[in-house]
Formats: sequence, structure tokens, C-alpha cells
Amino acid sequence: MTDAPRPDKRVFIKTWGCQMNVYDSERMADILRPLGYALAETAEEADLLVLNTCHIREKASEKLYSDLGRLRPLKAHKPGVRIAVTGCVAQAEGEEIMRRAPSVDFVIGPQSYHRLPELLARDARSKGERLLADFAPEEKFDRLPAARAASGPSAFLTIQEGCDKFCTFCVVPYTRGAEFSRPTADILAEARNLADGGVREVVLLGQNVNAYNGIGANGTPSCLADLAYALADIPGLDRIRYTTSHPKDMDAALIRAHADLPELMPYLHLPVQSGSDKILKAMNRGHTAQAYLDLVVELRQARPDLALSGDFIVGFPGETETDFECTLALVRTVGYASAFSFKYSKRPGTPATAMAGQVEEGVKEERLARLNALLEEQQTQFNQTMAGKTLPVLFERLGRKPGQVVGRSPYLQPVWVDGPVSLLGTIADVCILGAARGSLTGQLRPTSAAAEAVA
Ligand code: SAH
Ligand code: SF4
Ligand code: F3S
Repeated sequence: MTDAPRPDKRVFIKTWGCQMNVYDSERMADILRPLGYALAETAEEADLLVLNTCHIREKASEKLYSDLGRLRPLKAHKPGVRIAVTGCVAQAEGEEIMRRAPSVDFVIGPQSYHRLPELLARDARSKGERLLADFAPEEKFDRLPAARAASGPSAFLTIQEGCDKFCTFCVVPYTRGAEFSRPTADILAEARNLADGGVREVVLLGQNVNAYNGIGANGTPSCLADLAYALADIPGLDRIRYTTSHPKDMDAALIRAHADLPELMPYLHLPVQSGSDKILKAMNRGHTAQAYLDLVVELRQARPDLALSGDFIVGFPGETETDFECTLALVRTVGYASAFSFKYSKRPGTPATAMAGQVEEGVKEERLARLNALLEEQQTQFNQTMAGKTLPVLFERLGRKPGQVVGRSPYLQPVWVDGPVSLLGTIADVCILGAARGSLTGQLRPTSAAAEAVA
């Protein structure tokens, strides 16, 4: 093992967007650590600022420009400070960022951030360098350091990137590129490394994670189900999650894995976007509302305690009140444990931007409010069904009050209990006493060793 240099510089990384960006930010920290960069708590104390951006909706992109405006004076006071814009806005609007924000030193797309060290070294000679992703993701993954600094008992692990689906509203195929799956051996090595560092849960990430199709053992193709069985065999790894799944890629093998593997958590993020067949078709989702409902039935047959979360878009071009009511009806039929809902946002270069029948902002807002009211009611109801149950909880952090620890249920609900610090990083049974919309409170099961330690 080589000794890492003493950290003498600080990097502040701000992350917007999906879990994949969170993973990328963690990996950037891993790359910068050997160069002497420790993580800064605030932008003010940093020598390097990394803004890891998201392009998915208009608001997400605008946050970058407002942040850059705020950071400008900082750079004036500390001329040595470097600003890098990474992520999906960097990929989509690299030229514009350089034009609009002269304070930015580097623009690095999501497939190129492994080149950060090179850019920082080159910076001594030429400033204002722009680097966009024309590199294949396999090069990125090959060049990321093998060792990862786990920041808790649950870790993200990117297994698949990019998207070939081209939903008509979505920028991801343009910002992340074509679908690419990492080889199984590399993923298993990363997972073992995490488990050795105390990680008990991996969250497998991909824009279409269940389209995973990597090179498995003996060079044969391996699907997500194959990978789940192999991961479940890793000692210490007790929980496996994956996100985000596309309904079209939910195959029989994966459904069977849910029945077979207790390690696969009974909680699935399965976005449907709309309950109207007309809108699903215009979105190019490739399935009907009924096909989605049938899939949910199949999944629940395989794993009766499975709970679902979803994503919804309201006000997609051409959406009428009747179409929207189909979405409400689908939500009522499925019954979601939690969900994310968004107003349709026009994205440059995507087909839906030019579609007829754009929906007025006021109508979008009204529909979003109605959908959210229903989803919130379902979430509260779901959480209330937990009261009186005993759930295994993976403890992740200390609570606000002394003596309190917080963990996650199989359904990702935060669970607050009174218990010893030694619970962190372990899974213990908790009797659920109460439920709010966003979290649960409970008490350690009296028979557990940790409960005896409290008493
Ligand atoms: N790959 C995932 C979603 C990735 S984007 C999937 O296929 O489900 C995350 C969510 O953002 C999407 O599910 C969608 O609900 C929302 N979203 C994407 N583009 C959007 C847009 N232009 N306007 C509003 N919401 C959008
Ligand atoms: Fe976007 Fe559709 Fe691909 Fe999901 S499947 S990332 S919504 S294009
Ligand atoms: Fe946003 Fe890019 Fe993720 S657009 S949602 S950060 S893939």
C-alpha cells in the first residue's frame, strides 16, 4: 500500500440530480484524495470547487448559473481557486457555460471526470480548458481507483450507464450517452471492497439498471438477476437494491430473483410516468398502462411484501383532463409507498419540446397538486401500516438527540430509535411504534443484544 500524501488542499463538491451523480461525486473525491485533496465543508475554505450538475428539468439546470453567480466574488478574493463544472449540464451546455461564466476553469462531462487530475496538472500552463465527454464509459471505470472510501453502511454502486430508450421528454440519452454495462467481475470486486470496509447494503445504479447486460463469468452475458445472485453470496452484504428500473426491462429472471433472494429488498422504484396509453405512446415509453399493472401483479405474486415507488410527469404535451385522470386511476390501483412527481419541463433537443398541445403552467400546477395529494395520502397510509410490525433496520447515523440512532427499514423509511452508538453499521429488529409521513419511530426488540445494552 502506498502512503497517501497529507491532505494540504481542500475540495468542495456540490451535487445535484440523481444517485448516479452522488456516486460520481464520491468517485471524484476518491480520485482527488491521492492528490492531497481533503473534502471541504464549505465553498469558502476550498481550493477546488466541483459543481456536479443535473440537466433533467429546466430548474435543475438554472441552479448551476445562480450558484456560479454566488461563487464569483469568492474567486476574486482567492485567485488560486479553481472551479470545475461536471455532470449533465456540463455535457449538454459546455460551450454556453464557458461563454456565460468566465469564472469556470473546467467543464467536464459525466464520462470524463477520471481526467480531473490530468486537467489540474495541465492547468499550470493553460487555463480555461474545456473537456467534454468523447470518451467511452469503460475507460472511465477502468481508470477509477479500485479502493473506495465508504461513507456509511449503505453505498451506491454504478453498474450501468446511459440510455438507449429515448423517451421523448428526456435529456439523459444525450447527456449520458448510449447504454453501457460494466463487467460483472469489476462490479463484484467493487462490492467486495465495500463489504470489507463495513458496507452492508449496496444500491446498484443505472439510468436503466435492469437493462444491465454485462460480461459475466467465462465471457457469457450476465443480466441483473445473475448479478443479484452473485452479490447475495458476498459475505457481509445483506441488502441489495437497484434503481432506476424501466418496466420494459423487468424480465422473468429478475422477478424470480425477488422471490428467491431475501437480500433483494422488497422495495422497488418502477417509474410509469403516466396512466394514459395515449400519453405513454407519445412519451415513447414502449408499454401500456395495463402492461405496467400486470407487471405489478406479477411482482407482488413473487414477493408479496413488495412496495413500490414511482415517478410521474404531469402536463406532458397533449395531456387532457381525461388522460390525467387515467394517471390518478393507475395510482389508486397500484398504491405507492412513495413517489416523485414532476411538471413536464421542456428540454432543449428533445422531441416533446416541439410537440403540439403544450399544457399551460397553471393546469400543470393544478394537476401536480392533485396528484401529490393522492400520493401523500398513500405514503402516510403505507407508513401507518408499519405500526406494530417488527422491521429489520440498518442503522446509518446518529439522531438529533443524544442516545438516538437512525436507520432504514427495508422500505427505505428512516427509523428513529433510542439505542447505543454500537448499532451503527448493523441490522437490528425494531418494533415500530409510530409513523409520520416521512419517517417511523420504534423501539429495539427486547430480545436483541443491543436492546439489552440500552437497558
Ligand atoms: N431512467 C429513469 C428516469 C430518469 S430521470 C426512467 O426511465 O424512469 C428521473 C425522472 O425525471 C423521470 O422518471 C421523469 O419522471 C422525470 N423527468 C425526466 N425528464 C423530465 C422532463 N423533461 N420534465 C419533467 N420531468 C422529467
Ligand atoms: Fe430518460 Fe426514458 Fe432513458 Fe429513463 S428510460 S433515462 S426517462 S430516456
Ligand atoms: Fe440529472 Fe444527469 Fe441524473 S440529467 S437526473 S444528473 S443522469
